[in-house]
Amino acid sequence: MVPPMISRRLVLAVLLLCRFGVGWKADIRADSNRDGRVDIDGNTDLADKDEWSDLAGALFLANIGDTDGRCSQIALSGDRLSDEALAACNDASDDIQRSPGYMALIRTVPIQGLEDGAWANVQVTEEISRKNVRLFRQEQDEWIITTNDYKFNASELEAGLNLGIDARDTRRPSGWDGRAQVHLHVQNELEVQVDDVYLRVAPILTSHHLMDVSEVLTANVNDSKAQIKFVSDLRDILNDPNLKKPLWLFNHSDDVWAQDFVEPAYTSMPGSEGPITLEVMIRSSQGSRTAGRQVFEYLRKTGRGAVYSTGGTRNEIDSMGNLETIPPYSFKDKSFPAGRIIEGSHAKSYPSYPHVYDYMKAQEFQEPLVLDTDWLAVGHVDEIVQFLPANTPYGWALYIADLRAGIKILEDAKEQHGDTPAFSRLNDTYTREGLGDVPGLTIAELLTDKLISATKDLLRNSTPS
Ligand SMILES: *[C@@H]1O[C@H](CO)[C@@H](O)[C@H](O)[C@H]1NC(C)=O
Ligand SMILES: *[C@@H]1O[C@H](CO)[C@@H](O)[C@H](O)[C@H]1NC(C)=O
Ligand SMILES: *[C@@H]1O[C@H](CO)[C@@H](O)[C@H](O)[C@H]1NC(C)=O
Ligand SMILES: *[C@@H]1O[C@H](CO)[C@@H](O)[C@H](O)[C@H]1NC(C)=O
Repeated sequence: MVPPMISRRLVLAVLLLCRFGVGWKADIRADSNRDGRVDIDGNTDLADKDEWSDLAGALFLANIGDTDGRCSQIALSGDRLSDEALAACNDASDDIQRSPGYMALIRTVPIQGLEDGAWANVQVTEEISRKNVRLFRQEQDEWIITTNDYKFNASELEAGLNLGIDARDTRRPSGWDGRAQVHLHVQNELEVQVDDVYLRVAPILTSHHLMDVSEVLTANVNDSKAQIKFVSDLRDILNDPNLKKPLWLFNHSDDVWAQDFVEPAYTSMPGSEGPITLEVMIRSSQGSRTAGRQVFEYLRKTGRGAVYSTGGTRNEIDSMGNLETIPPYSFKDKSFPAGRIIEGSHAKSYPSYPHVYDYMKAQEFQEPLVLDTDWLAVGHVDEIVQFLPANTPYGWALYIADLRAGIKILEDAKEQHGDTPAFSRLNDTYTREGLGDVPGLTIAELLTDKLISATKDLLRNSTPS
């Protein structure tokens, strides 16, 4: 039997609670309205607290840079790491906060009048989010990793908690989609108050040709005369005092196609002094293209990370040259403020889309558009379309390889120049004999070549543009 005295007091307490509430409130906040700061004095961050949409709700970053090249140095100093191990090391791969500038802040509104024994947990709910998210608390100048069962005390709650959040990984097609629910539980004697704030990892976005160039990458391949000349010409252009851009050379293999084994990208969230942006190099999902390992070994640094996912093949469809970015535009009810990805499909020879398609789609922001590139010999989308700055309403233009116009140039030239060699380039591209031979055809011979005939048939059967 419960003594009547206690039950009367309990009833009274419950009645008082109902009438006046507990007089204090659990209130955890992030930059939900994306203005670059966490507002705990006003209410600007309240409305979008439980938003996970494109337009609202707090963002945080996959903190996958490599501060001071720590992971790169590890990769270069020991035994050769597997591709997966190489990609696994980054600023967020352990529990130390090396790059607090890329953390998003979370704060709690100070609570007054708690009992001495009051305590609180801040938990990342859902196992998959918990695994991929790092939560830190600030103690003096240090950021200390904080688990779901860590107990904050009354004086910390009275001062208000200063927390930081970052992710160990990006959004992935199968696995974590970047969502995190951060739950605050405050216990004051028998009273419990809870609150939640919802955050999502910012998407990885590919760069487009309207963005400023910061650095130029190509490959230094010493057995290709053409590439040696290309690098030397490029160096001259970049050294021009009006341009002055650094040139970085891959040097691991004879793979000249830097455009194919890496794609520059970035991820970004609002900050108090403008966007906070981390560069992210995407290595092509082509393990056998070992040149791509240098993305992890040399190109990462403070403020720049890299990602790689296994599963693709050396099959041409998985080359990054088969991925381009349409600069920002909107059309009808669709808008692509960070541009839109375009990739080539090889429907006949390869039934799946490029391996990276699923990864980019999982970012949910540059929805890939797919073009049939199966009719090309190699089949990369960059062989036929390119997007360049231009004085147009969008600020850019689509350049497209015009097969009809190309064949017409040859046909017009045939009359007077039929005996002229069709290719000006000589058989001196590579130092190795036979590699990259240039066909020795004249213009007249080329026009009767079977590839050109096949192309003409193809064009005849398709609608003229
Ligand atoms: C509360 O926690 C902080 C941080 O760990 C600590 O410095 C402080 O002494 C604690 N206060 C009490 C009253 O235990
Ligand atoms: C390749 O380039 C890196 C970075 O510039 C350099 O440290 C390394 O020594 C080069 N390796 C070779 C074999 O030239
Ligand atoms: C050419 O480059 C390869 C790496 O691709 C390197 O092993 C070789 O030493 C280089 N040869 C010369 C002559 O520089
Ligand atoms: C290049 O070499 C190949 C093979 O020897 C030959 O068929 C072709 O005519 C040559 N091309 C030119 C442009 O000399």
